[in-house]
Amino acid sequence: MKIGIIGSGNIGGSLGTHWAKAGHEVLFSSRHPEELQSLANAAGNNAQAMGIKEAFEANADVYLLAMPFKAIDDLAKTYSAQYANKLIIDATNPYPERDGEIAQTVRDANYTASEYTAMKFSSAKTAKAFNSIKAEHLRDRAFRTSNKLTIPYAAQDLESRYVTKQLIEDMGFETLFLGNLTDTQIMDPEQAIYGKSLPHDELKEMVDSVRMY
Ligand SMILES: NC(=O)c1ccc[n+]([C@@H]2O[C@H](COP(=O)([O-])OP(=O)(O)OC[C@H]3O[C@@H](n4cnc5c(N)ncnc54)[C@H](OP(=O)(O)O)[C@@H]3O)[C@@H](O)[C@H]2O)c1
Repeated sequence: MKIGIIGSGNIGGSLGTHWAKAGHEVLFSSRHPEELQSLANAAGNNAQAMGIKEAFEANADVYLLAMPFKAIDDLAKTYSAQYANKLIIDATNPYPERDGEIAQTVRDANYTASEYTAMKFSSAKTAKAFNSIKAEHLRDRAFRTSNKLTIPYAAQDLESRYVTKQLIEDMGFETLFLGNLTDTQIMDPEQAIYGKSLPHDELKEMVDSVRMY
């Protein structure tokens, strides 16, 4: 698949590198693409660096959102024609101290952060994944054949569910499907499974026990 990485720091850099290693075509992007050249070089022949605009214009199959939450509104508005009917995988988290008022609004709202993203990127299909596990575990625990960590995820429809699951498995993590985007509250900052890096059964047990109440 062709995967556009929107924001290529701790999260986007690691995930893009893993996907390139797994054989996907990876477009690392940020507002300063000249700073991403060494990342793209290290990721190998399947990866390249470019600006955000070029990434959206490159007709990728999937876009990973791995930039600060506060950029969602602008990106959603500017590139709505380019990402229409594509899959958006949202790895962002709203942090008021970094993202300002919009993050506090979303944290206080009666919808989840991923529903906010889906509402903004409304011409795409949205899935939520990778936001609840620590950056160093995403970077260092991929491609394990045993003691795999589990990435919880949720998706808007069957196709986005299937593709997201496959992309998680391609980098050697296990998956735990949580449902649709209304079910992702437990992944949001300070909620039950936020920051948890666990094997499948332990994570499932935690999710099940939270959902019993
Ligand atoms: N760190 C974690 O443990 C963790 C775990 C899961 C999820 N997350 C979430 O994942 C996202 C990225 O976190 P990170 O730790 O990878 O951050 P990071 O290392 O600071 O990287 C952010 C990336 O986004 C780019 N960026 C910044 N502002 C942008 C904008 N307005 N438009 C487009 N790109 C922009 C940055 O490059 P330029 O400034 O050059 O554009 C950089 O490439 C955040 O929403 C974070 O909450 C973080």
